[in-house]
Amino acid sequence: MKSIYPPEDFVEKANVKDPAIYSKAKENWIDYWESFAKELHWFEPWEKFFDDSKAPYYRFFVNGKINASYNCVDRHLKEKRNKAAIIWEGEKGENRVLTYFDLYREVGKLSNALRNLGVKKGDKVGIYMPNLPEAVISMLAAARIGATHVFIFAGFSPKSAAFRMKDSGVKLLITADGYYRRGNLINLKEKADEALEEYKGVENVVVVRRAGNEIDMKEGRDHDYAELVRKEKAKSECEITDANDPLFIIYTSGSVAEPKGIIHSTGGYLVHVYATSKIVLDLKDEDVLFCTADLGWITGHSYSVYGPLSLGATVLLYEGAPDYPDICRTFELIEKYGVTVFYTVPTLVRMLQGCGNIDSFDLSTLRLIGSVGEPLEAENWLWLYEEVGKKKCPVVDTWWQTETGGIVIAPIPALTPMKPGSVSKPLPGIEVDIYDSGGKKAKPYQLGHLVIKKMFPGFMLGIHGDPKAYVQLYWSKFGKRVYLTGDYAYYDEDGYIWISGRADDVINISGHRVSLVEIEKVVKELREVADCAAIGVPDRIKGTAIALFVVAEKSDDLAEKIKKKIEEDIGRIALPRLIVFVKELPKTAGKVFKRAIADAVIKKEISGIASNVEVVKKIAEKIDKNA
Ligand code: PRX
Repeated sequence: MKSIYPPEDFVEKANVKDPAIYSKAKENWIDYWESFAKELHWFEPWEKFFDDSKAPYYRFFVNGKINASYNCVDRHLKEKRNKAAIIWEGEKGENRVLTYFDLYREVGKLSNALRNLGVKKGDKVGIYMPNLPEAVISMLAAARIGATHVFIFAGFSPKSAAFRMKDSGVKLLITADGYYRRGNLINLKEKADEALEEYKGVENVVVVRRAGNEIDMKEGRDHDYAELVRKEKAKSECEITDANDPLFIIYTSGSVAEPKGIIHSTGGYLVHVYATSKIVLDLKDEDVLFCTADLGWITGHSYSVYGPLSLGATVLLYEGAPDYPDICRTFELIEKYGVTVFYTVPTLVRMLQGCGNIDSFDLSTLRLIGSVGEPLEAENWLWLYEEVGKKKCPVVDTWWQTETGGIVIAPIPALTPMKPGSVSKPLPGIEVDIYDSGGKKAKPYQLGHLVIKKMFPGFMLGIHGDPKAYVQLYWSKFGKRVYLTGDYAYYDEDGYIWISGRADDVINISGHRVSLVEIEKVVKELREVADCAAIGVPDRIKGTAIALFVVAEKSDDLAEKIKKKIEEDIGRIALPRLIVFVKELPKTAGKVFKRAIADAVIKKEISGIASNVEVVKKIAEKIDKNA
């Protein structure tokens, strides 16, 4: 595929246009990162940029003192007091604008209220909320007082929420009465109450009145957000936090049965998302960034909150479903708010193609488009470039993970010729490679393990409460200095990286990470289920969907029961597209041989390695009948 060069108009005004950025970062790695760090506000400078003495625990900006809330709010007051920090639109079309000064006042008030409720530095504050301005305020209020926030995606079930709160030790929870999703009112408080039945460690619950639905308020425990903050002063001292104090914990799925709490630092993380917002998303003062991710995912944390706000840009936050009332809603939002930078996931890109006449929307404000979360196929890249951006907007396909905090591999939009379908090259100051299983560099077009060889400030601090998993999942294959990403990838002849997908038992559905092992565990808990295997199958819109193979007597009741259990224990995101009842699963060395199922279903190949190959054939026949 031919390379596409950055549009000239874009290059002229870009934040980074000197190709020497790559060589400079190589020659002086410390200077490179420190130059971004120096653009932020530090209470006390760091003593050492990098400490690898406790590898694989890496620390940056050692002993530096910084507050993330200060950098995202107070730092901008002098010049941007009346500039919009957050423009919010609800699903029903209502909107709110918070200037930087509004944000300062709201964050200050809530942080004082949290202090009065006994939240101290190092305490965990849970946030179980949809995309509301109060969710951002809650994150920044927690950060302001040195508490660690634990955001729980509002779509998660009470059980999932309880697990996350318990695992991290949440002391106070901020939630909302309800919100709208595809026109339906979701009673979030009821879900929160259910979660709090299971986990009793929460002393105080703060409830935002978003939808006005009827809810139970538990005397002594539950507080109305508006009433609580009304009494508070806006002025609130920032806690002096250490660069390596945890800013937040965010849960993600791994190739293990339970979600893991990824801990991110304050200083290094902020420097990384600040730098990448500047060089990859090319954010400037006049930009309106629309990142379509939910705040509950790392993308929302990094590129709806900490990256753009630390830069002083304007963020568009949308509460509802992107396809409500129809699939053109995203384009309406871009037009209505003059969005300049649009950052999204391939699933939405595929859905948006169903919108019909794009040219009926004025999308002329757009100047850069980004994608993350799953492979963006060349045809979808080209559609974005030609139809949405009218060849005026670079399209940056960015690769990163919850663990990396921010973007790792991506084009620098004014510098890197873009190849549709490829994530291009690692950013300056970061070194990645592709290894074969023996740890040797893969040759061009040889599929191998994507690894990271040079750490960078946004990298996680660890896994909450599970140091063993941290070492075993990421650092056992190639040692303590080579981070295993869990992805398969290959180089082309120009050294461009092409991501092929996960190498482990994790799949990406609509850009969200789902653990197949977790689904299997939940389903196996049903008495009627003897065994089961979940695999990822290609899906035209979502990228990947789940097919579930269940050893049990077939019944419609059981299929429904399985779906209900998955929805309750994990969330709708993990619902299978297909449930197939089988008598047996293919096995090898006594273990379920999932690759044989995947090959039979996806490639229509029967693997002879399974000890019970007949079973594989039967599965293939069943799928043919179902197709
Ligand atoms: O498989 C890769 C895929 O998403 C995984 C990380 O998921 P998560 O931690 O939920 O973070 C998503 C948002 C950062 C990766 O291991 N992935 C991420 N970006 C891309 C991608 N796959 C292909 N192309 C990408 N640009």
